[in-house]
Amino acid sequence: MIDWKEMGDLHVIAKLEEILNKWWGVEMFWTDLHYKIRSKHLDKDYSFKNHFMKVQFGMSYGYEYMGQDVEKVTDGLHENTGSHVVFDSFFKHVKGVASKVVVDGEYLGTVFAYPFIMDSFTEADSEELKKQMIECGSVEADAVAAIEHLKRMSSADIDYFSELVDLVSDEVVTFHSEISKREARIHELNSELGDKYRYHSMIGKSKKMQAIYSLLEKVSTSESSVFIQGENGTGKELVAKAVHFSSPRKDNMFLAVNCSAFNDNLLDSELFGHVKGAFTGAVKDKKGLFESANGGTMFLDEIGDTSLSMQVKLLRVLQEGTYLPVGATTPKKADVRIVAATNKPVKEMMAKGEFREDLFYRINVINVNLPPLRERNDDIPVLMDHFLKKRCDESGVPMKTFSKKCMEKMLDYPWPGNVRELENEVERLVVLAGDEKNITPDNLSARILDHGEAPSSGNTRGINTNGGLKAALEELEALMIREGLKRCNFNKSKLSKELGVSRASLIMKVEKYGLDKRKKAAGEE
Ligand SMILES: Nc1ncnc2c1ncn2[C@@H]1O[C@H](COP(=O)(O)OP(=O)(O)OP(=O)(O)O)[C@@H](O)[C@H]1O
Ligand SMILES: [Mg+2]
Repeated sequence: MIDWKEMGDLHVIAKLEEILNKWWGVEMFWTDLHYKIRSKHLDKDYSFKNHFMKVQFGMSYGYEYMGQDVEKVTDGLHENTGSHVVFDSFFKHVKGVASKVVVDGEYLGTVFAYPFIMDSFTEADSEELKKQMIECGSVEADAVAAIEHLKRMSSADIDYFSELVDLVSDEVVTFHSEISKREARIHELNSELGDKYRYHSMIGKSKKMQAIYSLLEKVSTSESSVFIQGENGTGKELVAKAVHFSSPRKDNMFLAVNCSAFNDNLLDSELFGHVKGAFTGAVKDKKGLFESANGGTMFLDEIGDTSLSMQVKLLRVLQEGTYLPVGATTPKKADVRIVAATNKPVKEMMAKGEFREDLFYRINVINVNLPPLRERNDDIPVLMDHFLKKRCDESGVPMKTFSKKCMEKMLDYPWPGNVRELENEVERLVVLAGDEKNITPDNLSARILDHGEAPSSGNTRGINTNGGLKAALEELEALMIREGLKRCNFNKSKLSKELGVSRASLIMKVEKYGLDKRKKAAGEE
């Protein structure tokens, strides 16, 4: 079933609604197959954009008049093979356009754009309409004002206008099927013990993550060092653990050392241990982490923060398999696999002499480069679902669901690379939702909620009111392409089919509007 309630909040639909209202003065609403209005027009505090409709809904039977029209139009559309009709309303000379919402061949609802008059509307027509309105209970002044507010349309306008109304219903269909597909995918994720979506505790179905899984799978039996690079919170530690727990060393220790947490001397003695009398206060021998981790895996986190002298010592462990405890004269043997990670730009550090090249080449036998979340948008829904399930399980509350609007907002936000940020947001939403099963966008953090709400131009909703219709339509086009690209995971062939334009023309438009964010982020081409 279509979730009508949220449709009005979708960007493209809201924008189309604005355009239709601004240039043709109409209201847009939608109805289900039971002739019920499912948009906000029935809300107590709804403020009508069209004065005629406001006056109509203010009449004792205003809603019933509309209901009759809806019924007539819906039944007519059932018979009709076209996508839309121009209909005569109960009120004389007043018209509207209705467009079918068809999902998989099934007619599920109707989008209405109402009311307007034709440019042939005469003084006499106006009188006749006024009379009818008064008979229906309207005060004369209201009726006059309502009629004055009706916009005139030429028959040429109507075709164009109807196409835009069809766009609204197309958008409802696209969004609805996208959500169904996503739900199916998440279902699949849960049922399948997922080679594709999961590797150890890492979640992600994007191509980039799958490439990482298969790399990790390939090296699982090897002893080689692994070097993991990635921005904060991209899952470097998860990769390190996955490397260890899929290796033959998995029954021995996985020892994580945060190199930036120690000063040089401390790190030295932590890692390699010391002998009695090595320094004042060293009253007995101390085992270092390398000894504890013997037979296992050592995860050197933030290795980019180590000093050059420490780097020399690490290099020695890697090259010779031995190390020297502080104060000792004979080296000890180390049987430890090294996995190292950093979020620092090591190449640049090498160029500046801050990181030893020889150590880099020793560690970097297998290189795992973790992409930030903004480069793998299609992991967001599965990660959201994963964290949601984890959180609900942990706190013993029944499983919740994300509303479509909430999902849309989360997908829109350019997560600055950080899965932890996403995880925290989901946790927050679960807590704030309380007993509510459905998670609505109201509790989203302001930065996520406000993102994309106020584009550069003009008024708050972003329609350029100073420009003409053409400018507004171009903005709409850019918006549709931007959202479509995200939806289709930047697959332009798929999107061009969806939008009904050629691939070449889509590419031209993407260039024109500068929309290939992914390309920019990845530094491709
Ligand atoms: N692919 C993923 N699937 C599931 N959870 C993930 C994934 N990536 C990251 N996380 C979660 O995000 C958080 C951060 O992950 P992790 O600590 O591995 O990142 P990091 O790169 O080491 O971060 P930092 O740079 O801050 O040290 C953890 O809670 C982790 O469980
Ligand atoms: Mg980390």
